[in-house]
Amino acid sequence: MYWDKDIETLNGGKLAELQLSRLQETLRRAAASPFYGERLQQARLAAENLTSLEDFRRLPLTTKDELRSRGREMLTLPLTEMVRLHASSGTTGQATVIYYTRQDIATWADLVARSMYMAGLRPADVFQNMMGYGLFTGGLGFHYGAERLGALTIPAGAGNSSRQLQLMQQFGTSAMHIIPSYALYLLNTFAQKGLDPRELPLRIAFLGAEPHSEDMRRRIEAAYGLKAYNSYGLSEMNGPGVAFECPEQNGMHVWEDSYLLEVLDPQTLEPAPPGQVGELVFTNLTRQGMPLLRYRTRDLASYDPEPCPCGRGFRRISRIQGRTDDMVIVKGVNIFPLQIDKVLMAMPEVGTHYLVELTRQDFNDVMLVKVEVQQSFFREDLKYLNQLRKRITEALKSELLVTPLVELVEPNTLPRSEGKVQRLSDKRQ
Ligand code: COA
Ligand code: AMP
Ligand code: ZN
Repeated sequence: MYWDKDIETLNGGKLAELQLSRLQETLRRAAASPFYGERLQQARLAAENLTSLEDFRRLPLTTKDELRSRGREMLTLPLTEMVRLHASSGTTGQATVIYYTRQDIATWADLVARSMYMAGLRPADVFQNMMGYGLFTGGLGFHYGAERLGALTIPAGAGNSSRQLQLMQQFGTSAMHIIPSYALYLLNTFAQKGLDPRELPLRIAFLGAEPHSEDMRRRIEAAYGLKAYNSYGLSEMNGPGVAFECPEQNGMHVWEDSYLLEVLDPQTLEPAPPGQVGELVFTNLTRQGMPLLRYRTRDLASYDPEPCPCGRGFRRISRIQGRTDDMVIVKGVNIFPLQIDKVLMAMPEVGTHYLVELTRQDFNDVMLVKVEVQQSFFREDLKYLNQLRKRITEALKSELLVTPLVELVEPNTLPRSEGKVQRLSDKRQ
C-alpha cells in the first residue's frame, strides 16, 4: 500500500523535524549559489541560525521573472555536475530552465514512483505515457517514475491518436498518463474505430497538466471503465510528483518531505487558513543542483490538514482553482499572452490590433487568432494573404508549441475594448 511507509506516514512533530533538518541542508547548499547566497545574507538567514520553519518566512519569495533572468545563478554546483535540463514555455530566450544532477533525477523518479504506487500502479502493469516528451517534464518525469516502479513503460508521447489506440490494444495497456481534455477527445477516435475503451484492460489513468473538474474526472472514469487520479506538479519543482491523489480521491497529498508547502493569501502574502484558497508557494527540500526557495507558483488552491483515511500524514490540496497571472494552458502547454504579442509585433505585416479566442471543440482546445493586417500590406490578393496567414501560423506555432487557427482581417475592423486592452478571451468553461 505504501511505497515508502516510514516517510509517507510521518506527521505532526516528526514531519516538522524532518522538514527543518532538510531545510537546513538546503540552505547550506543554496548559500553556495550566487543568487541565494546574496539573498540569504540579506535576510540574515543561515542553516546554523534557522531554528523554526517560521523563521524561514523572512526570506523573500522567488518569482518566475527571477528564475527567467537569473536562473543560472541559482545553481549550487558547476554546470558540469548537471545531467539534464527541462524548460517550460517560451522559446525566445524567455523559457524558465531547470537543471538536474544525476541524484536529482533519481530523487524525482522516486517521488513519481511513490505517487503512481499510491494510486495503485504495480510492476505487472503496462503503462502508456501520452504526455509530450522532450522539454516538457510530463513525459520523462512519468517515464522515469514508471520504470523505477518496475512497470512496462510505453513512451507513446502526445498526439497520433490512432497509434495510441493501436498501442493500447497491442500491448494491453492497463494504466495511462494523459491530459484530461485529450482523454475525452480520444473517445472520438475510439468511436470512429468502433471500439469500446471499457473492453480494454485499462484500470488507472493519471490526469495532469491542466485544470479539470470533478465532473470531467467522472466522465473519463465512466467512459474508460477505470479510476482516474489527479496529478499536480510544475517544472520549477522538478515536474510531476509534487502532489498526487491517493485512493480516497479527495484532494492531492503534497509530498511534504520533499516540498515545503506554504499557501499564501495572494494579496497580503500572509498564510491562508485551511480551506481558504491561496497561492501555492514551494521550497525544494531534497534537490541538490538547483533548489528553489519559496517559489511563487501562481497556482491557486486550498489545503486540508485533516488526517486522511489512507493513513498518509501529508496535507492535501484541492484541485487547482486558477492562477494569479495571465498564463493559460492550451492542449497541456503553458502560454503567456506576451509570447503571442512578441511574435505578432515582430512582423511588419501585422497591424496594431489582434484578438485571441480560446474555445473547446469536441474537448480539443482551439486557439483562434484574429489578426489585423497593416494597411500598407493589405491587398485583395488571396495567394499573398494565404501565404501571410501560413507564415504567422508557423511563427506562432514555433513559439507556443501549439498550432493556432489564424484569421486575417482588414485594418481597423476588430472591436477595441475600453480601458485596459484585453486581447485574450478564454471561452472554454
Ligand atoms: N495531448 C496529447 N495529444 C493531443 C493533445 C493533448 N493535449 N491535444 C491534441 N492532441 C493530438 C491531436 O489529437 C492530434 O493527433 P491526431 O491528429 O492523431 O488525433 C495531434 O495531437 C496533433 O494535434 P494538433 O491539434 O494538430 O497539434 P498542435 O500542433 O496544436 O499541438 C501537441 C501539438 C498536442 C502535440 C502539443 O500541444 C503537445 O505536445 N501537447 C502536450 C503537452 C504536454 O505533454 N504537456 C505536459 C506538460 S508537463
Ligand atoms: P509545467 O511547468 O509545464 O509542468 O506546468 C506546470 C503548471 O501546469 C502548473 O503550475 C499548473 O498551473 C498546471 N498544472 C499542472 N498539473 C495540474 C493539475 N493537475 N491541475 C491543474 N493544473 C495543473
Ligand atoms: Zn490519502
